Amino acid sequence: MKPVEINPELCSGCRICVRICPARAFTLVNNTAVLNGECTFLCDHCAAACPQAAIITNFPEFAYCRLLTIPDPTTLAPAPVPPAELVRLMQARRSCRLYTDREPGRRILTDLVTIAKTAPSGTNSQQWTFSIINKRSRVIEFGTEIAAYYKKLNRLAEMKWLRQILQLCGKPELNHYYREYYEPIKEGLDLWYEKNEDRLFHGAPALIFIGARPGAGCPAEDALLATQNILLAAESMGLGTCLIGFAVEAMRRDAGIQKTLNIPASEKIYSVIALGYPAIKFQRPAQRRKVAINWIA
Ligand SMILES: Cc1cc2nc3c(=O)[nH]c(=O)nc-3n(C[C@H](O)[C@H](O)[C@H](O)COP(=O)(O)O)c2cc1C
Repeated sequence: MKPVEINPELCSGCRICVRICPARAFTLVNNTAVLNGECTFLCDHCAAACPQAAIITNFPEFAYCRLLTIPDPTTLAPAPVPPAELVRLMQARRSCRLYTDREPGRRILTDLVTIAKTAPSGTNSQQWTFSIINKRSRVIEFGTEIAAYYKKLNRLAEMKWLRQILQLCGKPELNHYYREYYEPIKEGLDLWYEKNEDRLFHGAPALIFIGARPGAGCPAEDALLATQNILLAAESMGLGTCLIGFAVEAMRRDAGIQKTLNIPASEKIYSVIALGYPAIKFQRPAQRRKVAINWIA
């Protein structure tokens, strides 16, 4: 079977496929759609939008995003979500820093990844990757690697002469780190090592690592859009989430940490989401800085 097949009997010549194909692969001959270019995006827009169901796509590596914990939608066309409900969901999502011990099951975590994949990606490349820890004991093991990284970094940052030399060499990062992060991280490390208190993952029992394989045109954007899907979907499923930038930073700077997770070195990690069942419920939506919109005339 070819990747795209058109049934000329069904085609009404409406030109929708011609107009929406990002690869401009369709043309109309005798008022019937024909493929005259290459289907490079594998986006399926043609088949998904054809009012006559005259186009069939066959991408062996692709499948519909079916979920394990939520029934399939009954209609093809998505029913519009009332904006008030969508906004309520977005407002309800806050960073969770207090979790119960309950570990989210594999089914719900698998569904979160499936939902993540419905995000857009540059040229539909879908080169994102997902790795999951779903045991609190393993989260702590990983946290110990991260703590060791920051312990080393804090030791370097304590050296005033080193900060000054680096600054003179045009590398102000260590000095900046010292001013902004040294103290709170020292406090977090003391709690980690002396009181088994987890300021890093806030006691979360699960982690999702979202990365990208080499070759994606927009790896960071793709991974972060998938990340936002997870944050919102998790909220709607009763899970709390928190992005852990400190873990991403440590993994970027120390390739050995990624190795301990069996994530190939070629994958770059863009987000680490801590998640679990929240031990508190937020009562009010977030307040945000005011923004001035630049209306471009
Ligand atoms: C890129 C990024 C990295 C973050 N890293 C951390 C982190 O390491 N630890 C943490 O507790 N929160 C982290 N956060 C959460 C932010 O602090 C939080 O989103 C922000 O304060 C707004 O609060 P809200 O998410 O509850 O609306 C991070 C958020 C983003 C977007």
